[in-house]
Amino acid sequence: MLPLVKEKLIVIFVLPILCESSLVDPILSSAIENVIPNINITEIINKYSPLQSHLSEDGKLNFSELAVKYGQKCEEYSVTTEDKYILTIFHIPGKGRPVLLMHGLIDSSDTFIIRGNISLAITLADAGYDVWAANFRGNRYSLGHETLDCEKDKEYWDFSLYEFGYYDSSVCIDFVLQQTDKKKLTVIGHSQGTTNFFVLGSRRPEYNDKINVFIALAPVAYLSHMRGLIEVAVKLAPPIYSALTSLGVVDVFKENSALKDFIEVACTQDVGSYELCFDGAIFPGAGFDSEETEPQFSHVVFGHYPARSSIKNIYHLSQIANRNKFADYDYGTIKNLEVYGATDPPEFDLGKVKAKTALFVGENDFLGTVEDVDTLKSQLPNVVKYQILPRKEFNHMDFVWGKHMPETLYPYVFEVLDKYS
Ligand SMILES: *[C@@H]1O[C@H](CO)[C@@H](O)[C@H](O)[C@H]1NC(C)=O
Ligand SMILES: *[C@@H]1O[C@H](CO)[C@@H](O)[C@H](O)[C@H]1NC(C)=O
Ligand SMILES: *[C@@H]1O[C@H](CO)[C@@H](O)[C@H](O)[C@H]1NC(C)=O
Repeated sequence: MLPLVKEKLIVIFVLPILCESSLVDPILSSAIENVIPNINITEIINKYSPLQSHLSEDGKLNFSELAVKYGQKCEEYSVTTEDKYILTIFHIPGKGRPVLLMHGLIDSSDTFIIRGNISLAITLADAGYDVWAANFRGNRYSLGHETLDCEKDKEYWDFSLYEFGYYDSSVCIDFVLQQTDKKKLTVIGHSQGTTNFFVLGSRRPEYNDKINVFIALAPVAYLSHMRGLIEVAVKLAPPIYSALTSLGVVDVFKENSALKDFIEVACTQDVGSYELCFDGAIFPGAGFDSEETEPQFSHVVFGHYPARSSIKNIYHLSQIANRNKFADYDYGTIKNLEVYGATDPPEFDLGKVKAKTALFVGENDFLGTVEDVDTLKSQLPNVVKYQILPRKEFNHMDFVWGKHMPETLYPYVFEVLDKYS
């Protein structure tokens, strides 16, 4: 079974790289074929290229349109960070307390709403909360900058989770507080959305005082116990990153790029797509759980995911995994001395993240594993709730995409919201 899964993984993770580098860079291509045997890239391209994409309506609507479709009003705001990036925040107005949603890796605010009337954003809005959804720099909603052009200036893409935490998270929190005229708000993060929050809380500890409670879904700080094929991918990250850098690639998953078009086509067929994209790519990364994300959902998800981001951010996460440290970006000894005044990048001090924190973990989450969340928990000073979800198959994406979230997740989340928000 392993070679087959590997083959599928390659379709999603490696073929795209080839697309980004003008389809076939022969050196990269043969390097990949050496690592993964029995794969014929030409054959895969030939199989999927002639087909059409089949997104459903919800696969094509943006956050605001989905909010309206599922019975809410929605406003869009732009905020500008201290380093001049322009971000979009969506707002579903409610009379209740403000909740800010922070999405994860290669994702966007949409992740919290693509499940429609059972999605977290709509469920919170239906319950009367005042819902805000952030978009970190670099995704389709947050490509603006006061002086840089994301399509022309490579410098634009020189960011990773440090900037998401230090600049983007802080400006979104301040904006919501200012708009609502409140002193505190509640933040719910998923996956790297939690990482970004931990960066903020450790590097700008004054922000902890602005938080009622931080609800961390599938928390990620340490990545030392990842399972499945992501573990393999992380080991391959350094050569892939240097190959991409030498090809001048600084970002991935741009809308309407060869890569995004390929994913949209390959992942939205009625036959074969689920096996290819969920069994072959999402599950090996997130944990296997086909009950929560059914084949029809492919027609929604792949209109929104994966979302554009910087290569540097993805590489930074792989460094956290390979170095076993929750630390700043590692530039290598010489440049580290220049940037940080030390040979190693400084760690993020989780002891400073004093906000009340609720940690929710899936036992079958290959990325935010129980072991790594235990390490995180032991370092956070104010954990008010730690819950391994009872459903054993709960994986990394079931926190946002799960078909049964109203039964398997929300009761626990609302218990924390009722008590602390
Ligand atoms: C890959 O498939 C193509 C098209 O079927 C074929 O022409 C080519 O020889 C194959 N390459 C290898 C290395 O098997
Ligand atoms: C979402 O779609 C609506 C309707 O087409 C459009 O007016 C709005 O600008 C879009 N929002 C964003 C942020 O792209
Ligand atoms: C969501 O919508 C579906 C179909 O429109 C409906 O069957 C279901 O009861 C709704 N669920 C909730 C929680 O509103």
